[in-house]
Amino acid sequence: MAIQLNDFRKYVAQISELDPIIIEPVEAEGVWVTDVNGKKYIDMLSGICVGNAGHKNPKVVQAIKDQCDKYLHVMVYGEFIQKPQMDYAVRIKELLPQELTQIFYVNSGSEAIEGAVKAAKLYNKRNKILSYTNSYHGSTIGCVSMLSDTKFRENFLPLLPFTDNIRFNCEEDLMKIDTDTCCVVAESIAVGEGVQLPQDDYLKKLRKRCDETGTVLILDEIQTGFGRTGTLFAFEQFGFVPDILCIAKAMGGGLPIGAFIGKEEIMSKLNNHHPLIGHATTYGGNPVCLAAALAQLNCVADKDLLLAVKQKGDIYRRELKHKHIKQVTGIGLFNAIYLNDGVDWQQVLIKCFENGIITGTHLFNANCISIKPPLTITEDEIKESISRILNALDKI
Ligand SMILES: Cc1ncc(COP(=O)(O)O)c(C=O)c1O
Repeated sequence: MAIQLNDFRKYVAQISELDPIIIEPVEAEGVWVTDVNGKKYIDMLSGICVGNAGHKNPKVVQAIKDQCDKYLHVMVYGEFIQKPQMDYAVRIKELLPQELTQIFYVNSGSEAIEGAVKAAKLYNKRNKILSYTNSYHGSTIGCVSMLSDTKFRENFLPLLPFTDNIRFNCEEDLMKIDTDTCCVVAESIAVGEGVQLPQDDYLKKLRKRCDETGTVLILDEIQTGFGRTGTLFAFEQFGFVPDILCIAKAMGGGLPIGAFIGKEEIMSKLNNHHPLIGHATTYGGNPVCLAAALAQLNCVADKDLLLAVKQKGDIYRRELKHKHIKQVTGIGLFNAIYLNDGVDWQQVLIKCFENGIITGTHLFNANCISIKPPLTITEDEIKESISRILNALDKI
């Protein structure tokens, strides 16, 4: 029997009651989510870039079951040598540039950013933190301090001092990075306002400016990671390596885990012989989450899958043409439909929803609709999703 929406909202605290899409799922498998009434939806959000390996991926589920038969939580802070932590660290290191040597496990994307910023502060002892205008790195007080828009900050003042923003793709703003700057929290692809790709070697220039000033370059690949853009991480396509890479979301294949991976000279500063001088987190590196994470990593690191992601994304960008669509931009299966001015985005979401498509808008640009299905989507499912979206737009 379906749960009444009012009851749900009475018992479970919410952050938004505006969303026109309400689903009570009973199952999610591959790209499909089935609701309590038996209606099937194609998922264009992947739980916000979590379900890259497909919902309920059998290898991930099996890995979880196997680890559950061994042990769940045992201990934190490194006293116990836990095999799932070691296995994941070794595997991801094989797949990353050699500079990124050490991994620190946390529980979420926000915590990965927090931990990375703390490591940067311990490393160069500076104060200033820069991030892109209209970027989102999480909801902790540290991450909220990095938001550029007053309306998202004002309720939580006072926030961290010495935070400021630079515009993505703006070379002039790189001069804000100076010898007082502790770190820049950047993205390879700016995701706040849609899907914005770097232009004119912007990321190489950002890397160079950080090198010139001794600033730690922290890269948030929390949405763009794990094959989403057609390479394991998006930065691989833009000719630079960050000092610290932050990951989460798809990492756990549906279980909560995050991490930051950095150069040894920075990461070693966390090791101060008292956990509270570095970063302490009870569930960071949970063995069940890491068993799931290793299984999902092995799925999405597959070369054929990554190649297919590029081709699948091309189909969306080629075939999503409509009088209400200004453009579709993206890379791999990380795409956004920019609606023409005046098109009611809420109606678009509602009509998509009625047609069995789950999608949403971008945090700082509601006129921009997400196309980010699980990477395992088949060509037939892509065609089906495109036809449902175009039909939804016809009804506007
Ligand atoms: C780019 C980016 N960074 C960080 C975060 C924060 O991750 P979490 O919600 O796991 O704390 C998000 C979440 O949406 C995100 O999209």
